[in-house]
Amino acid sequence: GAATGGSAGAGGYPERNITFVVPFSAGGPTDTVTRMIAEPMAAELGAKVVVQNAEGAGGTVGAGEVARADPDGYTVLMHHIGMSTAPALYKDLGYKPLENFEMVGLVTEVPMTIVARKDFEPKTLQDLVTYVKANAGKVTLANAGIGAASHLCGLLFQTAAGVKLQEVPYEGTGPALTDLVGGQVDFMCDQTTNTSGQISAGEVKAYAVTTPERVRSLPDLPTTTEAGLPQLQVSVWHGLYVPKGTPQEVVQKLSEALKVALADKGVVDQMAKLGTAPVPAGDATPQALRAKLEEQLATWAKVIADAGVKAS
Ligand code: MLT
Repeated sequence: GAATGGSAGAGGYPERNITFVVPFSAGGPTDTVTRMIAEPMAAELGAKVVVQNAEGAGGTVGAGEVARADPDGYTVLMHHIGMSTAPALYKDLGYKPLENFEMVGLVTEVPMTIVARKDFEPKTLQDLVTYVKANAGKVTLANAGIGAASHLCGLLFQTAAGVKLQEVPYEGTGPALTDLVGGQVDFMCDQTTNTSGQISAGEVKAYAVTTPERVRSLPDLPTTTEAGLPQLQVSVWHGLYVPKGTPQEVVQKLSEALKVALADKGVVDQMAKLGTAPVPAGDATPQALRAKLEEQLATWAKVIADAGVKAS
């Protein structure tokens, strides 16, 4: 018969299931965003998308696995700000963010909330700063491992408060939030995509949101600026990556499918309920993600060095 059009590899892509790797526990904010876009991306690509959690070491285990996966478009990494912090925090990281991956596109940017177990004594953010200063040896601060968004926000908080706290690492802020609701840990900094439900249900105490403006879906939650800690500003950008060497036509197909997913009404509505929104279509592109990653690698290297934190 006549030769088929296009190159067999990329032209026929996708021909089987695509795995989206989430480098944190199921049920956390990264997992939540991934599962939101997996369905509409799968529909657009005409393939099944399987979400797989590969936890550990602040997201670097999962990122390393994808860096070493076959560059065929069937293994995709969903990661966030942690992609830009790991090189300054891990000595032998095993991958270089700008060299071992092809960029697919930015996905969303998520505000963070400072939340505590509901019977924790401090009532306001200022009370929290005063309390942790007086009880530094006793207070526990949860995060999802060194380099995770929650770890970075915790670092910014400790620097702003001038205190060093006991950090309790989890494999994701999904399980961390469960312990916070259970009163096993005192407080943490986590994304609205994870904490909104528990805040609205009154299952945790919320002090502030770490963005310049209030979050529409959490109208009563003051910003850190309103609450007297203006230097505590951070929001968690997310991006999709595939291993270096993945054919450009495949990267483009994934980027186009990402744009369709981010325009999906269900995705927009669900993100709005959880305090966030898709990036503009022009940012769901390889160029936009690369520019963001380059800028953030430099920014966080400085923040981490200024905080006196060494790579280990
Ligand atoms: C998660 O998905 O568990 C969080 O994004 C982890 C973190 O970065 O704090």
